[in-house]
Amino acid sequence: MAESLPPPPPANIESLSNSVQELSEKRYNEVPQRYIHKGGSSGGIICASAPLLDVPSIDLSLLISPSPAGVNELKKLQSALNYCGCFQATNHGMSNIYLDKLRQVSKEFFALPMEEKQKYGRTADDIEGYGTDSVLSEHQILDWTDRLYLNISPEDKKRLEFWPENPQNFRGVLEEYVMKLKNLNEFLLKAMARSLNLEENCFLQQYGESESASIVARFNFYPACPRPDLALGVKPHGDASAITFLLQDKEVEGLQVLKDDQWFRVPVVPYSILVNVGDQVEIMSNGILKSPVHRVVTNSEEERNTLAVFFIPGSEMEIGPVEKLINEENPRMYKTVKDYVSIYFQHYQLGKRPIDALKI
Ligand code: OGA
Ligand code: NI
Repeated sequence: MAESLPPPPPANIESLSNSVQELSEKRYNEVPQRYIHKGGSSGGIICASAPLLDVPSIDLSLLISPSPAGVNELKKLQSALNYCGCFQATNHGMSNIYLDKLRQVSKEFFALPMEEKQKYGRTADDIEGYGTDSVLSEHQILDWTDRLYLNISPEDKKRLEFWPENPQNFRGVLEEYVMKLKNLNEFLLKAMARSLNLEENCFLQQYGESESASIVARFNFYPACPRPDLALGVKPHGDASAITFLLQDKEVEGLQVLKDDQWFRVPVVPYSILVNVGDQVEIMSNGILKSPVHRVVTNSEEERNTLAVFFIPGSEMEIGPVEKLINEENPRMYKTVKDYVSIYFQHYQLGKRPIDALKI
């Protein structure tokens, strides 16, 4: 019946909307052109029913143990990161109640009225704050996501004006989470080095002092999307970080990882933290530990909330393959780079892999 059909979107809808949430609330059956992925071998049809990836689970409490179980877990870590670049961390020291609280503050923030969220709104020439991702090129395909992007470290890059005061415990809960992740980040950089039979500080030395390294939090909110076959929550990318910690939605799947040219779904494991290698650890490990190309698919039924925290080496640090990993059989794969993030975004928004620019 005519009355039940949604109104057609106005032609200029893309320029009117700076939030995907608002777009989705209008309940159109179509998505605007600028969100549509076309072409490619799959003909632009995004497949949400990809096979499930068997993401290894790693018990962090075992990684420092000299026992046979500990040695075995370290081997498992190395092979997981070589196989798919990520693992589900268990025994990470954070309680279920605490992780639920973290998810809750994120949900509450995105559920606030638009006017309230816009108090923390990103401005046109800035990355930080609430809103959609920056549009850097007219060819850029837009992502079906609103996000809150916050610099957490170094201290002088922290801009509290973007940190929500509502919900009232938002700032405290985030600070506490990042304090815990800082320890995990150091712990894992050491474990990764040991897993490759390297001196345990060699990745940490490249990563730099925690005062100069940067930590960024990205709260992702993916509204339900009328055309999951055409739009992506986040287009394919590898992370610019050394290590990324992703707290997935407890119920709704959406993340996919590319492996051997095929997309795989990453399962939801409610109280594990998904850890993935970023491009900078792939570079340091001369390509042995892989930064997985991943994307987020949408669905037409449910919204999805995730929190990604990126640990990024200080911009003055030289990042390059550790000498001990280079030999005749394994020649140097990457050039040494400083301030990788600055070359990253331009490539990324054009759908290219920034790390390829460093290949030898
Ligand atoms: C990211 C990312 C995945 C997700 O923010 O870089 O890949 O599932 N997020 O939200
Ligand atoms: Ni990512």
